[in-house]
Amino acid sequence: MEMVKILDTTLRDGEQSPGASMNIEEKIQIALQLEHLGVDVIEAGFAASSPGDFEAINQIAKQITTSSICSLARAVPGDIEVAAKAIMPAPLKRIHTFIATSPIHMEYKLKMKPEQVIQRAVEAVKLAKSFVEDVEFSCEDACRSDMSFLKEILDAVVEVGAKTLNIPDTVGYRLPHEMGAIIAELHQHIQNRAILSMHCHNDLGFATANSIAGILSGARQIECTINGLGERAGNTALEEVVMILKTRKDLFSNLQTRIRTQEIYSTSNLVANITGIRPQPNKAIVGKNAFAHESGIHQDGILKHRETYEIMRPSDVGIVGENNLVLGKHSGRAAFKDKIVSMGYRVSNEELQKAFERFKELCDSKKEIFDDDIRAILSEETTHIPQIFVLESLQVSSCSHNHHCAAISIAKEGAVYSDSALGNGSVDSILKTIDRISGFASRLKDYKVEALSRGKDALAKVVVKVEFEDGKGAIIGRGVDVDTMNATAKAYLSALNSYLSMKQFLS
Ligand code: KIV
Ligand code: ZN
Repeated sequence: MEMVKILDTTLRDGEQSPGASMNIEEKIQIALQLEHLGVDVIEAGFAASSPGDFEAINQIAKQITTSSICSLARAVPGDIEVAAKAIMPAPLKRIHTFIATSPIHMEYKLKMKPEQVIQRAVEAVKLAKSFVEDVEFSCEDACRSDMSFLKEILDAVVEVGAKTLNIPDTVGYRLPHEMGAIIAELHQHIQNRAILSMHCHNDLGFATANSIAGILSGARQIECTINGLGERAGNTALEEVVMILKTRKDLFSNLQTRIRTQEIYSTSNLVANITGIRPQPNKAIVGKNAFAHESGIHQDGILKHRETYEIMRPSDVGIVGENNLVLGKHSGRAAFKDKIVSMGYRVSNEELQKAFERFKELCDSKKEIFDDDIRAILSEETTHIPQIFVLESLQVSSCSHNHHCAAISIAKEGAVYSDSALGNGSVDSILKTIDRISGFASRLKDYKVEALSRGKDALAKVVVKVEFEDGKGAIIGRGVDVDTMNATAKAYLSALNSYLSMKQFLS
């Protein structure tokens, strides 16, 4: 069996999705889940790009033991030194350095001659090798580069020790048959001097197809993200590549990955909850409808013989039951624990206790509890972000002239603070009141509300994107409650807590 390595870049290229920025705690949570999923390499960020990225990579490097931790670095000494410092605590580590090789990038962006680019690449790999054994080199925009130049630069970096050669389709330009031909020619040239890697963007919708074409031509590493997040139209989706290799064993009988596919669904959910970007319902493998059979003919076929319409089992990717009605008022702690373990969660005793208490409270206000309700409880109760501001109570009433008035109490470090404010509508009045109590000025950039599970008494989930006073990107906050206005206040406070925790990390 030959291994196909999986390099997950959700925390780096994935974070480059518009609106997908994550805080350090959230990145650690995702990294721990990626390790559990079994990815070979976690590209945890681009250390030189910001102090926040450096800190996140460094924290992840201290906590992850079985996946290699990688930082991206341009082919410049400063970037490589910072990357090396960030990943240093990790038992398994990699530096991934890159420079553009296409004529258009070399002439207009780098303003460098091809010979200078080769020299820069060689110096970068040599410097990276002085810090770590495992160095990856990428030719940015490789798929629009001249083939003989690609071979020349790849030979040069292999000579000084690059172990993985990444061939990005940076602008998502190639079709699968073209990609297959490019990789076949490079594979023939490189032989087994290094591993060829695919890094495909999805601008024309070919990211997964191109990655698979690369594998068929000899590539043995795939760079991908959970839910296909990434710059512009995104990157290759991890779940798609992995399930293609598993489902089409007839074509890939000699290949395997280390991925525990049963962890795919919970990883997808975690990333969707943290980024606030949910895959579209018809997204392959992890979309809400990916295993839903609507047509009567299909349902009939499935009941008679599952394989008539199903090429994968939902349980292969960790989907257990169809949003099943689960536990009720009388369920005990042990049954609750069983349920969450069967859903793929691993929680500490303290987290279990908090989640169980919250579950009991929910049973008082909601007749039926579904899997999605339990996921929402767990994502709130297992957060590692310090809860500095906590909602105590909230009351909203409508006044004359379309105004609403909110009266809110918030606990902070043992004391309770109350205030009220008028606003144009209930959401505005709630956010204004919280601003008065917290003393932080902020701007609401986005507000989404959805019903979790079903029924008139379904939980409301509110996701907000908020920009705080220093204007350094939007922070995501989430709140879940049977009452939409309570969920709004909780989401806004969670963004504030997240912002404060990030500030504290970086101070
Ligand atoms: O798309 C790309 O070319 C990249 C490289 C930096 C690997 O993300
Ligand atoms: Zn990329």
